[in-house]
This record gives sequence, C-alpha cells and structure tokens, in this order.
Amino acid sequence: MARITKLEDIVSLCKRRGFIYQSSEIYGGLASCYDYGPLGVELKRNVRDAWWKRVVRMRDDVVGLDCSIFMHPLVWKASGHADKFADLVTVCKKCNTRTRVDHLTDHVEEHTEHVAIETAMADAQNLDKKVCPACQTVGRFTEPMAFKLMFETQMGANVDDTMTLFLRPETAQGIFVNFRNVLDSTRVKVPFGIAQIGKSFRNEVTTKAFIFRTREFEQAELEFFCEPGTDEEWYEHWKQARFDWYLNLGIKKENLRFRDHDPDELAHYAKACVDVEYKFPFGSGDWQELEGIANRTDFDLRQHQRGMRTLNSWYETKGDLGSIKLKEEAEDYHKGPLSFFDEQAKRRYIPYVIEPSAGIDRSTLAFLVDAYDEEEVRGETRNLLRFHPELAPTKVAVFPLVKKDGLPEIARNISDDLKKHFTCFYDQKGAVGRRYRRQDEAGTPFCITVDGQTKEDNTVTVRDRDSMEQIRVGTDGLKAYLLEKLGI
Ligand code: GAP
Repeated sequence: MARITKLEDIVSLCKRRGFIYQSSEIYGGLASCYDYGPLGVELKRNVRDAWWKRVVRMRDDVVGLDCSIFMHPLVWKASGHADKFADLVTVCKKCNTRTRVDHLTDHVEEHTEHVAIETAMADAQNLDKKVCPACQTVGRFTEPMAFKLMFETQMGANVDDTMTLFLRPETAQGIFVNFRNVLDSTRVKVPFGIAQIGKSFRNEVTTKAFIFRTREFEQAELEFFCEPGTDEEWYEHWKQARFDWYLNLGIKKENLRFRDHDPDELAHYAKACVDVEYKFPFGSGDWQELEGIANRTDFDLRQHQRGMRTLNSWYETKGDLGSIKLKEEAEDYHKGPLSFFDEQAKRRYIPYVIEPSAGIDRSTLAFLVDAYDEEEVRGETRNLLRFHPELAPTKVAVFPLVKKDGLPEIARNISDDLKKHFTCFYDQKGAVGRRYRRQDEAGTPFCITVDGQTKEDNTVTVRDRDSMEQIRVGTDGLKAYLLEKLGI
C-alpha cells in the first residue's frame, strides 16, 4: 500500500474534494485558520461522534458537559494558565521572525506541544548555534522572552463593568469548575468521568502543517476523577482505551505509538503524562503528538478551592490578575467544597484526575493521512480514502446506470429511503466508472448501481470501495445488508 509522503498531497485532495479550505480564502486567506467543507464537516462530525460514543455513551461511569468558552478570569489564575501558559520565544535579528526557542534546531524541524519554560531555557543556552527557520541565519537571536498564549478580549458594554476575559486554551477547566454541580445534580460517584468536546484557542507562535497546529481548534477531553492511590491503575486503563480507539477506527498499528514524557517535560500540574503519537508525513521526526494522557493529581480541584477563597480580593483589585495572589490552601483543604465524601469508607478527599486530551482536528488529519491510498488499476492510478465506515463522510452512493428508462426514479427512491439511516449521495452524471472513482476519492465505502436488470428482478449491484468487487443484492434486503456491512 502506498504511503503518502507529502502533506501537500493531502492539502490538495482536501481542497479539491471539499474536505478543508483555507479560511477567508477569497481575501487571500487567514493564516492558521481553516474551514471544513461539505465532506470535511461530515468527517469531523463522525470523529467527534466516535469519541463521544466510546468515551461517554458506551460507559456507565462517564457523563457529558458543554461549558461556555468565556469563563471567570480567576479560573485561569487558579489553573496556572494566567501566569505560566507561555512559550519562550526569541526574535531573529536579521528577518524579525519570532520563533519558539524549543523549536530552534541546528536544522529546521517540527516539534511537539508546549514544553515547560524550564526545558526551553536549557535550549536557550546555546542560541548562537541555532538556525532561524525563516531565513536560515545562524545565531543572531534576541534574548529569549515569555510569550503568553491566551487570547484576550473585553466583555461588557459599559466602561465601568467591562472586564478582560480569555478565550479558553483548554476545555478541561470548564469541567473542574462544574465538578460540584455534577456531583450534586446527578447520581455519579467517584470513580467517574466528565467529558467535553469544544473549541479552544491558543495564540500559537508556530503554526504551519495544515490543521495539525492552529490557533482555533477543537478538543475532546475527559477528566476522570478517582480515589488517590487508584490513579495509576486508571492511568493505565485510559492509556490503553485511548490507544485502542484509534486502532479500532482503522489507524494502522505501525503508525501509532506511545511516548512517555520525561520528568522535566511534564506540565506544571502533571505527575505523569504519555503522548499517543502518530507518524505524520511531515517534520523531520515524523512522530508527532496526537493526544496526551496525563495524571493531573488533585492539582486542579485544590487550585480552584484556592481560587474560590480569593474571590473577594479579586474584586478589591478590580480584577487585575497580574497583581492578585491566590489565597493559601486551607489547612483542611481535603474537606473543602470540591471534595468528595465516600459514604462507604466514611472518608472525605479531593479526587485525583486522569485526563485523556485529544484534538478533534488533529485526529481528523491523522484519519485522512492514514486512509489515503493510491493504486494502479488497469494502467490508471486510483486515489482512494480507505476510511473506516464509521468515519466515512458518505456511507453509500446511489447511481442509475443511465439517465433514462425509469432508472433515475428507482435510484432516487432507494437513495431517499437509505438517507433515513445514513448519509447517502445520489449521482447520475457521467460514466459510471468515473462516478465510482469520485466516490473512492471521497472515501465512500459502497456504491449502488441501478441498471436494466433491476427492473426485472429487483436487484442492484453493490460495489465495495476497497476490493472493487460487485455483487447483486435484492432491494428488499438492501438496507439490512448495508447496515450490517457498515457496522452502524
Ligand atoms: N488539557 C490538556 C491539554 O490541553 P495539550 O497537550 O495542550 O493538553 C491536548 O492538548 C491535545 O489538543 C493535543 O494532543 C492536540 O491533539 C490538541 N491540540 C493542542 N493544541 C493544538 C493546536 N494548536 N492545534 C490543534 N490541536 C491542538
């Protein structure tokens, strides 16, 4: 099977077939922002649904949530983002390009997600040997400085009550601040998880690489609350569950691996963290983060208890996050408002949290890359996307062989009936061979053709995208046949 080596091929296919376009393209485009076209929006929705199905609906111990993007500014003080969510950057004195210090190498390459400022500081020691990725000049950089990654905006119409808010850089904090609400309004008990899918925003220094790293993106995050002491077991559980999710949706095993974070690479809240990495066809290292699974301990809930205690001082400082200091932790913090009371053990504690955090856009890119294939068929190149049926944007295409003899009417009826169950595309234009090729390129698992024989014996041909085999199936049993084959 051909392995695509150039990201350009994927970008071009995405544009040509309506998966993904550059944002505001008619105005010259907006860097690092992308729009999902008719096929892309279905694909991305399927990725999202597949995550929600496995992480929420198919389990008894996970519930869902959908929080607002704007949150109280103190949330970001308590979480550590207001002070620490920054990249160490330097500016090339020759071309003025700003680059992350940890992205500078002796040669230009792609890198992983944000590293701790301390780790980047180590890289900053030998800037004189580093190359500017924009103009290739060696060693002419300014002193490194912290570059904050959260977008700011103003809320409120009146001067007196206007306040500075942040676009959330992760969906996780909305879950932590609703922990008490969910405990009080549902029947969940630790161990349990709260899941959320939604947009996050980061003013990334380095973007490039299509939808891999953008400034506006969608995350799918689970915060799984467990008793301290059981956290390592749950960490292993979620590591495996998330790895299997990608494999079960068709990602090839040889393109997926785990990478444990080194202790000096860990985020400020994490006791342990592992990345699920995918072998993307760009960057010198190939392997790039697809998802992170972290043991966040009780850090966030404890921090939000401190945040709640700081609220009065926040009003006194008129909401100036820079000058405000979080109140110390209460001595009996484990009995605080974000604690959990274990009825059986008669014990109160702050739960530990295991967090699998995936990127919906980044997974969509991985599914596209992994499904892409080219093969020679009778002297011609066939481009196809071998999507898992659950992810395929269109499940079935229906064609009349010719545009006469009543065949279009029969095909339309079949298509209208199937549309009640899954996405179905009707097409009567052009030679049937070309119609098959178009659907191969869109990743449609099955094509149905209505021909002269249909009028005689009520059968149609069903063509399989991957094997190109065609069999005849009776129209009465067609829906059941397809549902079984698609596994949905
Ligand atoms: N709550 C933890 C957290 O946000 P992260 O490693 O910064 O952890 C988790 O992000 C996932 O979100 C990443 O593995 C990636 O899939 C996705 N992601 C992060 N930044 C992104 C960006 N700028 N563009 C696209 N996806 C991004």
